[in-house]
Amino acid sequence: MNARELYRNKLISIPDAVAMVQSHQCIGTAMAAAEPVGMLTELANHRDRLDDVTVWVCLPLRQYNFILKPEMSGHFFVENWFYGAPDRAVHPEGRTSYIPNNLHQASSGKLSASGGKLNVYWGTCTPPDAHGYMSLSLSLVIEKQMIDAADLVVLEVNEQLPRTLGDTQIHISEVDYVVENHTPPFELPSAPPAPWEQTIGGYVADLIADGSTIQLGIGGIPNAITALLMDHHDLGVHTEMFTTGLVDLFEAGVITGRKKSVWPGKMVGAFALGEQKLYDFMDNNIAVEFQQGRITNDPFVIGKNYKMVSVNTALQVDCGGQVCSQSIGPRHFSGTGGQLDTHRGAQLSPGGRGIIALRSTARNGTISTIVPMLAEGAAVTVPGQDVDTIVTEYGVAELKGRSVKARTEALIRIAHPDFRAWIREEVERLGIVPRLVVPGYTPATA
Ligand code: COA
Repeated sequence: MNARELYRNKLISIPDAVAMVQSHQCIGTAMAAAEPVGMLTELANHRDRLDDVTVWVCLPLRQYNFILKPEMSGHFFVENWFYGAPDRAVHPEGRTSYIPNNLHQASSGKLSASGGKLNVYWGTCTPPDAHGYMSLSLSLVIEKQMIDAADLVVLEVNEQLPRTLGDTQIHISEVDYVVENHTPPFELPSAPPAPWEQTIGGYVADLIADGSTIQLGIGGIPNAITALLMDHHDLGVHTEMFTTGLVDLFEAGVITGRKKSVWPGKMVGAFALGEQKLYDFMDNNIAVEFQQGRITNDPFVIGKNYKMVSVNTALQVDCGGQVCSQSIGPRHFSGTGGQLDTHRGAQLSPGGRGIIALRSTARNGTISTIVPMLAEGAAVTVPGQDVDTIVTEYGVAELKGRSVKARTEALIRIAHPDFRAWIREEVERLGIVPRLVVPGYTPATA
C-alpha cells in the first residue's frame, strides 16, 4: 500500500477518534502550540460515557471545557507538567494537579511512574509528504517518548502548521489513526519592551559576549531582551522555546550560529510559541533544528556549548539566592519547565553563565521581588546552591560561590530602593544574616 492509501485508510473523524477512549484510561497530549485542538475540544462531549479519565497536558493554551467546567469532575482529571491560564484558574476546584519535573525528564519521569504505560496519545502534525512523512511541527518536548509508549496513537493533521525539521519526522505507518483539523496555531503576541525591561535588557546584553550561544526562557523579560541584542555579533541559539524575538535577531544577522560548538549553524530548540511570523520562519527552515526536550534540556548537552548564556525570569528571589519562578506562595502558577536545566547547563559551559532577570517589584510597585525569605509555601525553582547571576533594573548581582551574607549585600544593591532598608532589617531580625555590617569585614562582591 502506498503512503497516500495508507493515509486514507487511517483517516477518521474527530468524534470517532475520541470515541476510542475508555473509562479509567490515560491520554497523553502534545503541548502548547502543538496541542490537538480538535480532539481536546471534543473530549467534553464524551463526558457522560467516561469516568476517571486522566489527561496529561503541558501548557494548555485554549479554553477547553473538559478542564474548565465543574461538571467534568469525576469524569476527567488533568495532570499537568506546566500550568497555563485555564488550569491555573481551575486549580482551586481540585480537578488538576501539577507534576513536579525538570523538563528534560518530564516524559521519562511520568512514564516511569505509570510503569511505562500510556493508553492513548493525541498530538498534531503536518500533512504527509509524498513519501508519507509528517512533521510533529511545533513541539518535541515530551511528544516522541509518549508516542513510543502509547497503545494507541492518533495525530491531528493540520495544514496550517509549519513543517519543522530535525527529529520531528514521523511516518504515517507509525501512527494508528489520523484526524484532520486545520485550526491556525495559537499565537502569543510580543509587546515592545517597557522602559524597565529595556534597562534590564541592557544589563543582560552586557553579560552576553559576541559569539555566545543563548537560551531565552518563557515570559515578558526574556522576550524583551532580544531587542537589546541587536548590536551583537555571531550569536547562536540552544534553547528550549523558540520565540518571535529570535526571528528578528536572525533576520538582522545577529544570530549566525557560526561560533557554536553543538549543532554549529543551527538554532536548536524543542518547542515554538510566538507569533505567526515565528511559525512562518520555522517552515522548512534548515537553520532551525528541533530536538527532543530530553536532549535540548539535558544540562550536560547544554554545557557542551561554548559561552552558553541562559536567561530566564522569576517571581521571587530570597537572600540565600533561592529562586521561585513557579508559584505565588503556595498557589501554583506555572512550572519549573527548563529553568533549572538551562541555568545549570549554562554554568557547565566554558565561559557560560546562568542569568535570572526579574523586575525588582511586583503588583504596581507595592511588593519587593527580592525578599529576605521566600513566601510561605513558595516552590524553589533554582536552589541557592545552583544560582549564578541575578539581574534587576538596578543592576547585576553575582551570587555564585558567595556566602549568604555577601549574597544579601549584593541583592540589597539591586533591590528597589524603597525596600532596601526593610530587607536589611528583616535578614537581621530573622537571623538569616545576624549582623550585615561587621566592622573590618568587606564582602567580596562589594
Ligand atoms: N509576588 C506576587 N505576585 C507576583 C510576584 C511576586 N513576587 N511577581 C510577579 N507576580 C505576579 C504579577 O503581578 C503577575 O500577576 P497578574 O497575572 O495578575 O498580572 C503574575 O505574577 C505574572 O507575572 P509576570 O511577571 O507577568 O509573568 P511572566 O509572564 O513574565 O512569567 C514566570 C514569569 C516566572 C511566571 C515565567 O517565566 C515562568 O513560569 N518561569 C518558569 C519556567 C521557566 O522559566 N522556564 C524556562 C525555559 S522556557
